[in-house]
Amino acid sequence: MRKDPIILGIDSSCDDTGIGIVQNNQVLANIVSSQDAIHAEWGGVVPEKASREHLKVIDVVLEHALREAKLELSQIDAIAATYGPGLIGTLLVGLSYGKALAWASDKPFIPVHHLEGHIASVLADSEIEPPFLCLIASGGHTSLFDVQAWGKYIELGRTRDDAAGEAFDKIARLLGLGFPGGAALSKLAESGDDMAFKFTLPMQRQEGFDFSFSGLKTAVSTLVKKQADANKADVAASFERIVVKSLVTVSAKAAKKTGHKTIVVAGGVAANKRLRREFAQIGLEMKFPPFALATDNGAMIALAAQKRFVVGAWDIDAKPYLPLSSTIA
Ligand code: KG4
Ligand code: ZN
Repeated sequence: MRKDPIILGIDSSCDDTGIGIVQNNQVLANIVSSQDAIHAEWGGVVPEKASREHLKVIDVVLEHALREAKLELSQIDAIAATYGPGLIGTLLVGLSYGKALAWASDKPFIPVHHLEGHIASVLADSEIEPPFLCLIASGGHTSLFDVQAWGKYIELGRTRDDAAGEAFDKIARLLGLGFPGGAALSKLAESGDDMAFKFTLPMQRQEGFDFSFSGLKTAVSTLVKKQADANKADVAASFERIVVKSLVTVSAKAAKKTGHKTIVVAGGVAANKRLRREFAQIGLEMKFPPFALATDNGAMIALAAQKRFVVGAWDIDAKPYLPLSSTIA
């Protein structure tokens, strides 16, 4: 009997060096080297530093991943890597590394779109077949996709300004919670009163399925400037309530319009507990990635590669701007 291919996936689209290994939706390894501490003092990702750090750690991350999966490189059947979107310098590190590894060990190379990786993160130890609706909410993206098939994605809406994770990070910074502060803000919000401050829900009267978080960000920072003694947990909870409400409301509206009965929520913000709780209450079938696969990682790239075994794309370049609808078929 032919065994399912073992795929190694690499992601270096931003500031995390991720290498994962999967076989038939099973995650055999998922190692992520985070650069949070390096960028924290600058309050955001410094692209040049990020590229150098990827170069420094990528060999060790590969070693760890192989060790965790209890495999030798010779047992890997194919290598996949993110080719876009992301920071050009950081993308180039993982993409060149993946190509070189595949070339030197005579294995197929599979280029993967970063957002397709986020969508495929829900395949971990699970199975789901399109069609479904997918909300990707991360530090760099907030978009709703009509996933008609693996490889066929129609964008229904997107943020007009900040991504949801970016808004979390900016407010977290304002509250002195470090960078990236999404998880810390959410933790703080647990002890706050979410109705203490009544911020306006963005984009309420729109016809479509877009998002906007910059007005909310301004409202929160104006409040914090005016009321220096405002309880931080209350600010965090009131802010989180509106971001989550916006994501849930627009997604539910899109599900109604398209008739989808299943919503997949992926990307770093899918690690948010309140978001998971509120989506679970809208009466549709929900699918989230395991917490470890919500934020950027290599396993999701390998999971996506399983579905799209596009081989031999050696001449593909890193693409900082890359709409998901343009993925190679
Ligand atoms: O998917 P990801 O790792 O990177 C991008 O592709 O952008 O997402 C990172 C984002 C950050 O903005 C981070 O603050 C946010 O996800 N995030 C969270 C939580 N955990 C991570 N936001 C809200 N609640 C969380 N628990
Ligand atoms: Zn991402």
